[in-house]
Amino acid sequence: MSADVNEAKASQGRRNFLKIIGGGVIVAASAGGLFAASRTPTKAIEPWKLALGAKPDFDPRRYVLSHAILAPNPHNRQPWQVDLEEENVMTLYCDLDRRLPYTDPFDRQITIGLGCFLELADIAAKEIGLKAEIEMFPAGEGVPRLDDRPVARIELKKDDVEPDPLFAHIYDRRSNKDPYELGKSVSAENASLIVAEVVGGAIGGDITDENVAAELRKIAWNAMETELRTYRTAKESIDLLRIGKAEIEENPDGIDLGGAFFEVADALGFMNRDEFLDTSTTAFQQQMAAVKEPFGTANGFVFVKTEGNFRRDQIAAGRSYVRMNLKATELGIAMQPWSQALQEFEEVAPQYKQIRKVLQVEEGETLQMFARIGYGKKPEPSPRWAYETRLVNS
Ligand SMILES: Cc1cc2nc3c(=O)[nH]c(=O)nc-3n(C[C@H](O)[C@H](O)[C@H](O)COP(=O)(O)O)c2cc1C
Repeated sequence: MSADVNEAKASQGRRNFLKIIGGGVIVAASAGGLFAASRTPTKAIEPWKLALGAKPDFDPRRYVLSHAILAPNPHNRQPWQVDLEEENVMTLYCDLDRRLPYTDPFDRQITIGLGCFLELADIAAKEIGLKAEIEMFPAGEGVPRLDDRPVARIELKKDDVEPDPLFAHIYDRRSNKDPYELGKSVSAENASLIVAEVVGGAIGGDITDENVAAELRKIAWNAMETELRTYRTAKESIDLLRIGKAEIEENPDGIDLGGAFFEVADALGFMNRDEFLDTSTTAFQQQMAAVKEPFGTANGFVFVKTEGNFRRDQIAAGRSYVRMNLKATELGIAMQPWSQALQEFEEVAPQYKQIRKVLQVEEGETLQMFARIGYGKKPEPSPRWAYETRLVNS
C-alpha cells in the first residue's frame, strides 16, 4: 500500500472514531461496546424517571419541580435554585456560579433557560389542576447581568385550569445533537405547527426553503468555528466536559460524553482537553470535522425573536422555545439550538449580523433562539441534578 492509501485509511479510521456533537464540542462514535450498557450513567438520568412517577399528593411544588428541572438550558448548566420557605410558593433564583460569561456575557441565554424552566413548571402545575401564578423579577431585573435578586415568584393556586397537551411530551423531549436524516425535510406545514406554540409576545419564524437553509448552515458553521478557535469561548465548553460514567454521575450537568467508547478513548489519551483547545493539534482538527458533521444535515430551522431585549423578553423566548421543542417532540421532529451566531462576544459579530439579515430581524429586535429541525433517532436523556439538590430553605 502506498503511503497515501495508508494515510487515507488512517484518516478514515479517525473519522469513524471521532464523530458527532453540537453545542461546542467534540466527538462520539459507534461504541457498539460490550459493556456499554453498564456504563450508562443511570443515576444521572434518574430524574427523568422520577418525574414520570411523581405524585402530586405530598407537596405539589415538588411534583412541579421534578418536571421543571427537565427543561432545556445552555450547556446543561441547570442554573435554577429554588427557595421553598414560603408556603405554596417557589421563589426561583439564578445560581450565579452556573452562568457562561464568555459565550453569554449578558446572561441572555441563561435567562432563556430559566424561561424554559418556568414554562415546564406552569405546564406541570396545570396537569394537577393548579395555576402557577408567576411574578417575574419581583425585586427588579438584573441588568446588564443577573444578580442575586429573584428571577420569579411562583405561587400555586387551586383554579379551573385546562391541562396542556404538551405535558405528555416532557419526558421525551430532547435536544438532538446528532446528524439528521439526509433527504427527509420537515414540511412547511409541520414547521408552522411548531412555530404556532410561540407565546408571551415573542415572535416565531421558520425556514424550510432549501436555498435559505443552505445560507443559514454556512453562517451557523462559521460562528461555531469562530467559537472553537477563540480560546476563552472554546475553553468555557471544554471545562464543562464530563467524560464517562464516573464524571457524569459526579457532575450530572455540562457536556456529557457517556458510554464505554469515551471512557476507553479517555483512558487511551485521545480526550486531552488541552489538545482540543490548541488549534495546531490533530485533535483540534478532528474535533472540527466531528462538530461539523451535523451542520451538513440541517435542512430546516425555526427561530424566536423579540421586539425588546429585557429580561421578560428573554423569559418569553425561553417559554416559547420549550413549547416549540415539545411540539416538535409530539410531531416526531428532532430539534437542536444553534446559538453561536446569536452570541454577543466580539469575534462572532460578523455572523451575528449576517444571520439577522437572512432571518429579517429588524433593527432593535433581538434574535433569541435559532434551532435546526429534522428527523433522527431519539437520543438518551441528558443528565440532571435531582431537584432536591437545587433547593434552598426546603
Ligand atoms: C438558550 C439555549 C441555548 C442553547 N444552545 C445550544 C447550542 O448552541 N448547541 C446545542 O447543541 N445545544 C444548545 N442548547 C441545548 C442544550 O445544550 C440542552 O438543552 C442541554 O444540554 C440539556 O439537554 P436536553 O435539552 O436534551 O435536556 C441550548 C439550550 C438553550 C435553552
